[in-house]
Formats: sequence, C-alpha cells, structure tokens
Amino acid sequence: MSKYFLSMEGLTKIFPSKEEDMVVFENINIGLNKGEFVCIIGHSGCGKSTIMNVLAGLDSPTSGSVIMDGHEVSGPSLDRGVVFQNYSLLPWLTAMQNVSFGVKARCPDWTREQVIAHSRKYLEMVGLEESLNKKPAQLSGGMRQRVSIARAFATNPKLLLLDEPFGALDALTRGIIQDELIKIWGETQQTVFMITHDVDEAILLADRVLLMTNGPKARVAESVLINLPRPRKRDTVIDDPNYYKIRNHLVHFLVKRSEELSGSVSDEDGGTIVIDPTKDTSTKVENTGEQDTNPQYERVAL
Ligand SMILES: Nc1ncnc2c1ncn2[C@@H]1O[C@H](COP(=O)(O)OP(=O)(O)O)[C@@H](O)[C@H]1O
Ligand SMILES: [Mg+2]
Repeated sequence: MSKYFLSMEGLTKIFPSKEEDMVVFENINIGLNKGEFVCIIGHSGCGKSTIMNVLAGLDSPTSGSVIMDGHEVSGPSLDRGVVFQNYSLLPWLTAMQNVSFGVKARCPDWTREQVIAHSRKYLEMVGLEESLNKKPAQLSGGMRQRVSIARAFATNPKLLLLDEPFGALDALTRGIIQDELIKIWGETQQTVFMITHDVDEAILLADRVLLMTNGPKARVAESVLINLPRPRKRDTVIDDPNYYKIRNHLVHFLVKRSEELSGSVSDEDGGTIVIDPTKDTSTKVENTGEQDTNPQYERVAL
C-alpha cells in the first residue's frame, strides 16, 4: 500500500476529439502526506482543474488511478471538500442552506440547531453574516465564492480541494480567508491540495509547490519545498532571506521553463524532481538511496 495519504499513480487524461485527441497530462505520479498543504501552479490550460476534478471523483482518468486513505477514488465523497473555480452553488438555496445542506449530510445525528450554529460560524468567518438568507443570484461573485469556501470548510473533509479559491476576492477578504484557512488547517490536520496562480499566496500557505509544464501533455516537472518556518505571516514572511530564493525559482519556472519543458517527457519512472531553493548548491543528484547532506536537486519518484 502507498505510504502516502493521497497518491496519483500514472495519471493520464485524454479528451477524445474527431480531429486529434487532446492529451491533457500524462503519467502523473504524485503523493501527498497526511496533513500536507500542497499548491499546484501552472499556466492556464495546462490541466490543473482537470486534475482537481479527477481527485474529486467528478471525472475519471483515461488511465492510472487516485488512491486516498487506501481506497481508490471512484466518485465524489464527503471526505473530499471541493471549492470550484466557478463557485458552483445550488441556485435555489440560500447561502445558509447551501452550507447547512453539506453539514447535515456530514453529521446526520446533529439537531437542526447544531447544524445551523455550525454553518453560521463558517459563514461568519467569511464575512457573510448579513447575507445568510440570500440566494446566489442576489450575491456578488466574490460573495458566492465565499459561500462555497464556507461550505467546503464546514464539512471538515479529510481532503480539501481548492481551485483558485481566492481569485475573485478583494485583497482584504483574501487575506482574512487565507489566515482562516491556515488556522483551520493547523487545527484539523486536513490535507490540502490547492490550485493558485499567485506565487506569493503559494509561498505563504504551502509546504510544497508542484510546478506544471505547459500543455498539452503537461506534467508535474518539479516539487518545490517551501522551507520557511511557520507560523508565516503575510507582512513578515517576505523578510525571510530565503523568501526571494523560493519566489525567484517559482517565477523563473513560470516565465521560462514551463514553456521550454512543454511536451518533454518525464523519466521512465515518471519521477518529479524535488527542489529546495533555499539550499545554495545547485547540483542535480540522482537519488541512489544514499543520504546526501545538502542536495538542491534530489530525484525521487513521488
Ligand atoms: N471536458 C473537456 N473536453 C475537452 N477538452 C477539455 C475539457 N475540459 C478541459 N479541456 C481542455 O483541457 C485542457 C486543460 O483544461 P483545464 O484543466 O481547465 O486547465 P487549467 O485549469 O490548468 O487552466 C484545456 O486545453 C481545456 O480546453
Ligand atoms: Mg482551471
């Protein structure tokens, strides 16, 4: 059995088409440890949302599998909470009902009062205490996104899948909800897999950032360790001397290497290179099983 809480094993997704089949990504092999916070970054269209849909069990891979907690993912489950890119709420339910619906399903033994109090707590957390009884059509895009964040957090899933969840929010609200996310994650030991296009957000939140090459045939080329001490605060983390080493590495990948590596194939084992930009050495070390004291590049099959 995999040593990981969540593992993607040989994951490939092809969308068939009359002209040429669209190979979105190929042979992705990634593992997440329990309680880990992992962000994935890549250019638009490289397949991030498709990976998320497969992890959520809403789409199936063309080949390969997703294993969570020892079981193959074969459909949606309350163990996996999803915040979609396009804030999908049930339009005929109020903000409160959209959240309490999931809470009720998750905790069928709770009284109505317990369900409402718990749901209200999460809606207040995202600043929607004034809008509990409004339906999605009466809410702005950012408010709808906050309802879907409250809904996902309130069901306390083992795995949180977040697809650019804060993209539609103003900077102030985004900061508040990022802080809440770190707090909830710290308290619950949830595992988080989050798509973002914001490099600074990824460095603030993640233990590891996965970097995807441009599609088609995208792959996860690097797994970058965010070796900064926690707790991290938005206003002080940038003072860490290692912050810009990490940031420069991520930006350089996005600006240059994601395109250069586009269409390239991974090694026979589908391995991903693990990189710690805070280490000063720049040699690429094959993982021979021997302990290397200070590797910047370590090749491992994740
Ligand atoms: N249902 C679908 N049918 C055909 N092509 C799709 C479908 N969904 C996504 N794609 C294509 O797959 C690629 C990856 O899409 P997506 O996962 O949404 O990218 P990202 O989230 O990284 O921006 C894109 O080229 C997109 O057009
Ligand atoms: Mg997307």
